[in-house]
This record gives sequence, C-alpha cells and structure tokens, in this order.
Amino acid sequence: MTRSFPDGFLWGAATAAHQVEGNNINNNWWRLEQVAADHGVQPSGDALDSYHRYAEDMRLVAEAGLTAYRFSIEWARIEPRPGMYSRALLDHYRRMIDTAVEFGLTPVVTLHHFTHPLWFEDTGAWLGDGAVDRFVRYVEQTCSILDGVEWVCTINEPNVLAVNEGQTRRIAEGKPYQFGAFPDEEIGEILIAAHRAAAPLVRAATGAKVGWTVANQAYTPAPGAEAKFAEIQRIWEDMYLEASRDDDFIGVQSYTSQTIDQNGVVAHPESPDNTLMGWAYRPDALEIAVRHTRDVVGEVPIMVTENGIATADDERRIAYTTAALGGLQNAIADGIDVRGYLHWSLLDNFEWGHWAPTFGLVAVNRETFERHPKPSLGWLGGVARANAL
Ligand code: BGC
Repeated sequence: MTRSFPDGFLWGAATAAHQVEGNNINNNWWRLEQVAADHGVQPSGDALDSYHRYAEDMRLVAEAGLTAYRFSIEWARIEPRPGMYSRALLDHYRRMIDTAVEFGLTPVVTLHHFTHPLWFEDTGAWLGDGAVDRFVRYVEQTCSILDGVEWVCTINEPNVLAVNEGQTRRIAEGKPYQFGAFPDEEIGEILIAAHRAAAPLVRAATGAKVGWTVANQAYTPAPGAEAKFAEIQRIWEDMYLEASRDDDFIGVQSYTSQTIDQNGVVAHPESPDNTLMGWAYRPDALEIAVRHTRDVVGEVPIMVTENGIATADDERRIAYTTAALGGLQNAIADGIDVRGYLHWSLLDNFEWGHWAPTFGLVAVNRETFERHPKPSLGWLGGVARANAL
C-alpha cells in the first residue's frame, strides 16, 4: 500500500557546523576535546571539511531528490571576540544559503547548535552576566544574512544543551561528571529566556518561520509510575515544549524511547539490536514524540528536524527510517500538522567526542574527504520524489 505525505512536505537531511566543518578552534567544544582527550574524547579536527565542501554536500542532497537541507551557523566564527563580528564569515554563511537555494533546496538554518565562542565560555557561558543579551546581539547580526530563509531554529535541543552545560557547571564546582544527568533547570530557564528574546527579533527582521528544536525522549510510563513520568517529562522536555506555544513551528528530534518506572529512567536493556550509541532500536519513538509534542504544544506546526540511527549497517538505517516514517504517517493521518522530515544526518560526522557512531546517509573518507553516498541516500530521495512510502 502506498501512503502519501501532505503536498509540499519537505524532505531533507541535517548537519551541524561543529560536527562537519572542521577547525572550529574558537569554541567550547574544541577546548573540551583537548582537555578531555585523556578520558577517551576524540577531537573533531578537520571534521569533514564541510566548511569548504558544503556545495558538494548540498549537491548530494539535491541530486538524491531531497528538497531541504538543515545546517547551522557557528557563533564562534561570526563573533570571535565580544562585539567583533566578521562580515566575511557572515558572507560565508550567506553563500551557503544561496547555494542551497541554487540547488533547489529549502534551507533550514539553526543559529545555535551546542557550541559557543570561547570568550562566552570564559565569561560564565549561559550562567554569565548578560548571557541572554550576548546571544541576542549575535542573533541580530545573523538576521542580516537570513533574507528569504523560510525556516530558522534559534537553539538546537535546549534540553540537551542544559545537560551539557550542567556537566560543565558541575565540573567547575569540583563535582564529578554525572552519567545520565538531567537538564540543569536553571540553565534551561536561561535558554528559554534566550529563545523568547531572539525569536521575535528574527521573525520581525526576516519574516521566517521561527522555532526551536527539542530532543524528545519518547518516554513511556511503567504501570503505576505516572507521577514519576510526569515529573521527569517536565524537566526533560515539557518546559521547553511549553515555551514553544507562540512559535511558528516546533522541531521534533527523536531517536529512541525509554521507560520510566518508580525509580526513574530505566536504562536501555542490553540487546544486540542496540544502536552504535547503545540506544534501544525504537523507530516507533518518532510517532510517540510527535504525538506528545502535539499534546503539549497544541496547534503549532511540527517539523521533524532530526531522526535517524547510528549503525554501520545501511539496510538497518533504511528499515529504521521506513518504520519511523510509517509512525509519522499515523500521526499525520490523525490530523497532526507535520511539515517535513529532515534525516539525521547527511554525513557520518563528529558525534560529539566520538567518530564511531555513524548516522550518515553518506560516508566520508576522513583523509581525502571524499563523499560516498550509501544506498539509504538514494532510498530516502526516492521516498521524497514519490512523496510517499
Ligand atoms: C543532536 C545532534 C547529534 C544527534 C545524535 C542530537 O542530540 O542535535 O547534534 O549528533 O542528536 O546524537
């Protein structure tokens, strides 16, 4: 049976600057990679050299039959020193937008994807005085290059960012790294304030649809654990989803699902099916995430801004994505307004300290930077051309 997606549905692939560009030496992640090298954290280094090869990347997206490309702008490049904005770097990202459009791709632009400039780190990062204003000033600069862009994400996964930044905070306070940490709520509130300050500015300056993207955990309650479930869901995602009610869209990012019992989040059960991230193979997570988002956010249109699987077996990627898209169709059939699906990721990129978990539709030789499309790229392009499963 063929099941169609709505007319005008966007089909794309996603990346983020620090994971693909290379030599982002002026941001907090680069520093972390050096400092934590003895703890098994690998360096991003040249990454995939997409800083220079973005046109090649976009060509692959377009030639496969996809219609959208999500990428991010690197704050540390735009503002290497406080208040010093690089016109040349802004122009670089404008060229990326223009290149996407020339290839017939709808650019989906993220303004902040986990990284910030070293000077921001050294002034307390999100907990520093005036952090929100600093972010807003950077966002104002980016507005000068966003003309014609239809989709803008202010901050990627504020909830995961609040986990990462919470770890940095704990370590600065002399406490140990905490496995399975929850988002730091104080930092989360600051990120919400930053989003609320930035989104109207971008909307007014560019006319783009503005929103942010939330990492949906697709939690499900064990019998009798409803209260714990509600408590954890609020901290993990609902406070960020509630902050999206006035947005033009909400980005849903989903990979796996976990149970919550009376004691909290249940670890992924050991299974040969687990992905290279150690996560349970749960393509049904996307449907759970989309339905939960709708329940919390209401009528705000949804864009799937990330969904995918870390696997070395590309057939498994196709199987996972087929099942995830089937679930997405169930949600759409029930009247949920979903505007597009952007697969994570276009490339086998730098997975935040590790290179082994490969999420890409395209493999990359990290010596020569040659791109090798996997069958999944052509397959997803076929789904896009048919606009149907
Ligand atoms: C992030 C990506 C990341 C992916 C897989 C999301 O948390 O936005 O940067 O690579 O999930 O872990």
